Amino acid sequence: MASMYAPLVLSLSCLLAPLVSADVTIYGLFGQTTADPGALRSGSAAAPSATAATTTSFVTVPGPPQYTELAAYNPIYMEPPAIPDPAPPLQFAIGVPTSAQLMNGLSIPQHGTFFGFSIEMSVANQLIGTNGTTLHPQFLNLMNIVAQKAGAVHIRVGGNTQETAFLVDTLPGGKMMEKDKEDASNPTSTPVLAFTPELLYMMANVSSLINAKWYLGIPFNDTSNFRFQIAEQGEAILGDNLLAFQAANEPDLYGPHGHRPLTYSQFDFFGEYALLTQAYQNDTSIPVKNNLIAPSVSGTWTPESIWDTGFVEAYTEYLAFLAVERYPTDNCAVIFPNPNNPPHDPLQELPQFLSHQAGINLVQPYVNSTMLAQTWNKPFLMFETNSASCGGFPGISDTFTSALWGLDYALQMANSNFTGALFHFGGQNVSYNPFTAAPTNQSSFHQWTVGPIFYSSLFVAEALGQTNTSQVKDMFPNNGNDQTPAYAIYENGNFARMALINYMTDPTGAHDYTATIYVGGSGFNEDNGAPASVKVKYLRAPSVSEKDNITWAGQTLGGRFQADGTWKGDEDIQTVQCDQTQNMCQITVPAPGAALVFFSDAAQAAVDPAAPQTFATSIVTKTANTVTVDPSVLATSNGQSGKNRISSGGTSQGGANGASGMTGFAPGVAALAGVLGGVAVFMRALH
Ligand SMILES: *[C@@H]1O[C@H](CO)[C@@H](O)[C@H](O)[C@H]1NC(C)=O
Ligand SMILES: *[C@@H]1O[C@H](CO)[C@@H](O)[C@H](O)[C@H]1NC(C)=O
Ligand SMILES: *[C@@H]1O[C@H](CO)[C@@H](O)[C@H](O)[C@H]1NC(C)=O
Ligand SMILES: *[C@@H]1O[C@H](CO)[C@@H](O)[C@H](O)[C@H]1NC(C)=O
Ligand SMILES: *[C@@H]1O[C@H](CO)[C@@H](O)[C@H](O)[C@H]1NC(C)=O
Ligand SMILES: *[C@@H]1O[C@H](CO)[C@@H](O)[C@H](O)[C@H]1NC(C)=O
Repeated sequence: MASMYAPLVLSLSCLLAPLVSADVTIYGLFGQTTADPGALRSGSAAAPSATAATTTSFVTVPGPPQYTELAAYNPIYMEPPAIPDPAPPLQFAIGVPTSAQLMNGLSIPQHGTFFGFSIEMSVANQLIGTNGTTLHPQFLNLMNIVAQKAGAVHIRVGGNTQETAFLVDTLPGGKMMEKDKEDASNPTSTPVLAFTPELLYMMANVSSLINAKWYLGIPFNDTSNFRFQIAEQGEAILGDNLLAFQAANEPDLYGPHGHRPLTYSQFDFFGEYALLTQAYQNDTSIPVKNNLIAPSVSGTWTPESIWDTGFVEAYTEYLAFLAVERYPTDNCAVIFPNPNNPPHDPLQELPQFLSHQAGINLVQPYVNSTMLAQTWNKPFLMFETNSASCGGFPGISDTFTSALWGLDYALQMANSNFTGALFHFGGQNVSYNPFTAAPTNQSSFHQWTVGPIFYSSLFVAEALGQTNTSQVKDMFPNNGNDQTPAYAIYENGNFARMALINYMTDPTGAHDYTATIYVGGSGFNEDNGAPASVKVKYLRAPSVSEKDNITWAGQTLGGRFQADGTWKGDEDIQTVQCDQTQNMCQITVPAPGAALVFFSDAAQAAVDPAAPQTFATSIVTKTANTVTVDPSVLATSNGQSGKNRISSGGTSQGGANGASGMTGFAPGVAALAGVLGGVAVFMRALH
C-alpha cells in the first residue's frame, strides 16, 4: 500500500477532468457503446471535460510528477471495499476426483496460449518497435515471459484502426506507419492509418526471437475494395507465424458509429461477407483461404442474431475462428459526454470487479455460442476485451483488482469453452494496458510500466500449462461465495492444478482463508489420492488498490516506470505438506491474493526451478554488437516450419540439441544486434 505518500482527497470532477483532457483527440462517434480505446489518439484537440454526476471522494497517490496527467500513470487510489458482513466462511472444503472421467462438465481441452493480447494497430510502433530493426527489448522480454510459460504468445495487431488502414510501399522519412486525422472521403473522421511492409517485417523479426504468433485484420470499410494487401504480404512475410485474419471488427457498431447507415443489419453484414469471401477467393496472391475470423460482434448484436442468418454454414470454408468482443462496462462518458450514458461512478464499479460473478456475467451471453461452436468444430475467441472500454477506470483497471478480475474472467472463459481471449492495449491515454511503454521522449530515463492484467496472463498461462490438454472446471466452493472462487484444472485426464482467489483486502491477515482440498482416494473410489506435498505459487499485493507492488511467486516486474521486462527479487515457490491418510491438502489464500496449487507429478515437475525449463542469464547490450542468448531459450523460442518464411528469419528448429538452434539463429541475431540497442537488458529467463 502506498502509504508513504501523503493522501489527498479530491472530488471526481476535478480529478478526472484534467486526467482525460490532457492529450485526447476524439475521432468518430462514440456514446453508449463498447467503443474501444482505439478511438483515443494523441493529438491536439482537447477533450470535453468530465461532467461528473457524483461528488464521490478519492484518495490519490502521486506518481512521477510529469505523467500523472496520462491515464496510463494516473494517481487514483480508491479504498478497497469493506469486508462483506457477514464475512464468507474462512475455512471450507473442496473435493475433486483424480480422474477427469469422474468430473462432470469439464471444459474442452485448452492451450497455454489461451490468454493473449490485442494491440491497437496504431500503437504497434510504441510497443513493439520503431521498425524491423529497432525492436523494444522490454516488449521482447515481457512477451517472452508469457511465451515461455504458455509455449507461445498470441498477439493481435488491429482494432478500430485496422478498418481504414492501407498498405503503402514507403512513407516519408522512412517511417513504418503514419496516422492521418482526417480523410475527406471518410465522414466520421476515423483516423486513417498508412503503414508499410516494415510493420510485418517487424512482427516477423519478433517471431524470430520469441515464439510469438500473430492475428491481423483486413480492412472492411470499403466493400468495393477490400485492400487485401495486408493478407497478401502478411502471408508472405509471416508465414507460419500468422494465425488468422479478422475481417470486420465490431460490425454491430458500424451503424451507430456512422460507418454504415443506421439501418445496417445482420443481413446486410451477411451480404457484405459474401462480397468479402468472393474477393478473397479470387485473390491469387493469398495462398490460404480458410483463415478468417468472424463475426466479432461486440454485444450490440447477439451472436445468435448472426448465427440465425446462416452465417457459419454459408462461410464455413473460410472461417478458422468464430469470435466476439466484449468489455463489461465503459468509461466513455468521461471522454464522450452523452446524456444517454451518464458517467459510471468508479467507487460503485470497484466492488463489481471484485466478485466471481463479474466473469460469470460476462461469459453467460456466450455459453450457447461456445456449445454451437463445438458442433461446428470451430474455435471460439474473445477477440478483444479488457476491464472497461474507452480506456478503463483509473484506480480499477491499473490496480491489483484487475489482476484478480482478469485471471478469474479468463479462467471462466476457459471453463465455458472459449478457446482464447485477447486483452487489449491502447496507448498512454488508457489505464488498462497489460504494459505501457515509457513516454517516448523519456524512454532512456524512465522505464516501462507493467499493468496488473499482465500478471493475470502469467497466472493463466501457468494454470493451463503447455500440454494442450488442460480442462477447466469452476468449483463454486464455499457455497458459491463470490469472494472465494476456485477452479480445478485437469491435464491429460488427471487432476493437475487448482486456482484459488481471495477478493477481500485485510492487511491484518484475519480474512485469509484456508481451503481444504480433498483429492481422489477412497472418497471417490479411486486408488490414488492426494500427493505427499504440493507446490504453491501466490499472486499477491498488499491491497486490491495496489498499483506497484504486485508479486508472482515472490517476484515483481517492477512498479510504475520501473519495468524492463525482467523479474526482480527471488522466486518463492512454497511447498505444502498434504495429509495422505485423509487425502487432503490445506491451502491458505491471502486477502487479497490468488494461489496456483500444483498437484500432479507432471505439474510439480514443471514448476520445479531445477527442471529443464530453467534458463541461464541472457544479455543484450548496446555496447557490443553481439547478442548472447542462452541456447535453451532459442530452442524454445522458435517453431516456424519455414514455409513462406523470410529466409533471414533463419530460426532453425533447435531440435534436441540447443547448440544447433544457436547456430541456425546466429544470422538473425546479428541482424538484430545493433537494433536491440538502446537499453541493456539483463534477462534472467524463467523456469
Ligand atoms: C529504424 O529506426 C531506428 C530508430 O529510429 C533508425 O535509427 C533506423 O534508421 C530505422 N531503420 C530503418 C531501416 O528505417
Ligand atoms: C528484420 O526486418 C528487416 C526489415 O526492416 C528485414 O530486412 C530483416 O531481414 C529482418 N530480420 C530478420 C531476422 O527477420
Ligand atoms: C442457441 O442459439 C441458437 C442459434 O441462434 C438458437 O436457435 C437456440 O435457441 C439458442 N439456445 C439457447 C438455449 O439460447
Ligand atoms: C464445455 O464443453 C463441454 C464439452 O462439450 C461441456 O460438457 C460443458 O458443459 C461445456 N461447459 C459450458 C460451461 O458450457
Ligand atoms: C515529454 O513529453 C511530455 C508529454 O508530451 C511533455 O509534457 C514533456 O515536456 C516532454 N519532456 C521533454 C523533456 O521533452
Ligand atoms: C500445442 O498446440 C500448439 C498449437 O497447435 C502446437 O504448436 C504444440 O506443439 C502443441 N503442444 C503439444 C505438447 O502438443
